[in-house]
Amino acid sequence: MKTLPYLREISLKSDEIENWDLFPFTIRAIKNLDSLKFSPTVTFIIGENGSGKSTLLEAIAIAMGFNPEGGSKNFHFSTRESHSNLHQFLKLVKAFQRPKDGFFLRAESFFNVASNIEQLDTGAGGAPIISSYGGVSLHEQSHGESFLSLILHRFSGNGLYILDEPEAALSPIRQLTVLARMNQLLEQESQFIIATHSPILMAYPGALIYHITESGIEAIDYEETEHYKITKTFLENPKRMLNELFRGD
Ligand SMILES: Nc1ncnc2c1ncn2[C@@H]1O[C@H](COP(=O)(O)OP(=O)(O)O)[C@@H](O)[C@H]1O
Ligand SMILES: [Mg+2]
Repeated sequence: MKTLPYLREISLKSDEIENWDLFPFTIRAIKNLDSLKFSPTVTFIIGENGSGKSTLLEAIAIAMGFNPEGGSKNFHFSTRESHSNLHQFLKLVKAFQRPKDGFFLRAESFFNVASNIEQLDTGAGGAPIISSYGGVSLHEQSHGESFLSLILHRFSGNGLYILDEPEAALSPIRQLTVLARMNQLLEQESQFIIATHSPILMAYPGALIYHITESGIEAIDYEETEHYKITKTFLENPKRMLNELFRGD
């Protein structure tokens, strides 16, 4: 079945920006941003640390109605205002069809999502929320396990999933599990927008990969990414690369 996209495109309302010398308009991901079209299935955003992946993802998530701290649209907690005001300067082109499910995984604050679920479950009434996350408190699982519980049990399809470096705590085999689960969710009309450094995740077939460079955001083929090339060269002959790296030390 053809997956319909929920978010088709974003563009920057450049004429409303008064000071380009202030964050977030100074960062690579934003300063040359005109518009960005998303794949109806999977879009990856890659780029060096500090290039602006998280800032961009956060702004997209907020503009789509998610809690800036991460979570589904039902989460309204806030521990501190750490997000930028970039979302106010984004114009969104959404599909007619709205997502029935959704989640924004903000790498830095998954802990807060776990706490918020525990807190909600201490209140009376209704089925415990944790049951839709596999039944075990996310605080009592490792970071990797809790993320896996989230995607295996809580993500239910027909959803928009915005994930910031989901591979952070996952072993290679579990990253493969994530790919398999993504595949199932995509068959159920889901859309993913993912910031990643993982050459395993970004191998998802047919994904659109955007690379944040000095001059803007450009689409790039999987095999052309630094992540793929460096990992491949390294694994083909680790000793050779290490010798080169250490030469002169
Ligand atoms: N609130 C803020 N004020 C000023 N600069 C910020 C703020 N948040 C992030 N930055 C800077 O913006 C840049 C992009 O950050 P980020 O989006 O987290 O990058 P990435 O996720 O690609 O590693 C970094 O240089 C970071 O230090
Ligand atoms: Mg980041």
